[in-house]
Amino acid sequence: MSEHEHEHERECAEQGMVEQVRAEQEQAEQEQATAAHAEGVQAECTHAEPVIRIQNLVKSFGDTEVLRDINLEVNRGEVVVVLGPSGSGKSTMLRCINRLETPTSGHIWFEDIDVCDKHTNLNEVRSRLGMVFQSFNLFPNLTAKKNVMLAQRKVLKRSIEEAERVAEARLAEVGLAERMDYKPAELSGGQQQRVAIARALAMDPHVMLFDEATSALDPELVRDVLGVMRQLAADGMTMIVVTHEMGFARDVADRVIFMDGGVIVEQGTPAQVFDDPQHARTKDFLGHIA
Ligand SMILES: Nc1ncnc2c1ncn2[C@@H]1O[C@H](COP(=O)(O)OP(=O)(O)OP(=O)(O)O)[C@@H](O)[C@H]1O
Ligand SMILES: [Mg+2]
Repeated sequence: MSEHEHEHERECAEQGMVEQVRAEQEQAEQEQATAAHAEGVQAECTHAEPVIRIQNLVKSFGDTEVLRDINLEVNRGEVVVVLGPSGSGKSTMLRCINRLETPTSGHIWFEDIDVCDKHTNLNEVRSRLGMVFQSFNLFPNLTAKKNVMLAQRKVLKRSIEEAERVAEARLAEVGLAERMDYKPAELSGGQQQRVAIARALAMDPHVMLFDEATSALDPELVRDVLGVMRQLAADGMTMIVVTHEMGFARDVADRVIFMDGGVIVEQGTPAQVFDDPQHARTKDFLGHIA
């Protein structure tokens, strides 16, 4: 074999090795992709785990039916924004979920709990389902920290030390590390609302319900509260949010629901509902608030 042929053979061998390595690499990548796909499917499965299930919910006050056959499932980690005109039943729906209102008929499950069962421990439901309203309802005579400690002590029976530790951590999370010892009157509306959020979070909720949490705030204070809500959503909290903040809805919602007259008129991704609403009532509503 000439030197030239030797060299050619060596090149072929090297080429062979390169090809073999490449093939092995491709196979590894293939396996990785399959594993990633399986993980993705797994993640989707986890994501599709319903945390709240509402079936055929009807709520009447006297002769007035304010919720008419509501059906809704919210999955773990999902952020659902509820829109609709005044009186459409948004608050009533949220209040039925944590049994501040008793449904007239229908079923609501929160995780494995039948919320409508009269034997259900409502304290357990409400501590796992944090709720933040338009009005903050803080105790005026207690500091921010004491406000956040109260339900932890009374409902969860935490020790003072534990309740204090959690209160400090939660208040720091909502940006109030410097304001823990202030009373509500010494805090701005936005700060008070963040105390209310910290109070709900201190109970280690599995779901947070927000009912127009920023509606009572001056515009410059809205941003801080929405910032806390955005962060919660980014951290994977399951949330149902009634709001008129369309920017928040567009950016943060996985799903937007439009209610009118006690029914869910339509729902979809923010792009579907905002950019391509299917129903005249949705178009009309969005036209008015745009
Ligand atoms: N406790 C109650 N007793 C009688 N009627 C009630 C009660 N609570 C709510 N309603 C009525 O039920 C309807 C739905 O009210 P709800 O507060 O759920 O509306 P909403 O969509 O939250 O409105 P808003 O945007 O103004 O907060 C309204 O017509 C309201 O007057
Ligand atoms: Mg309301």
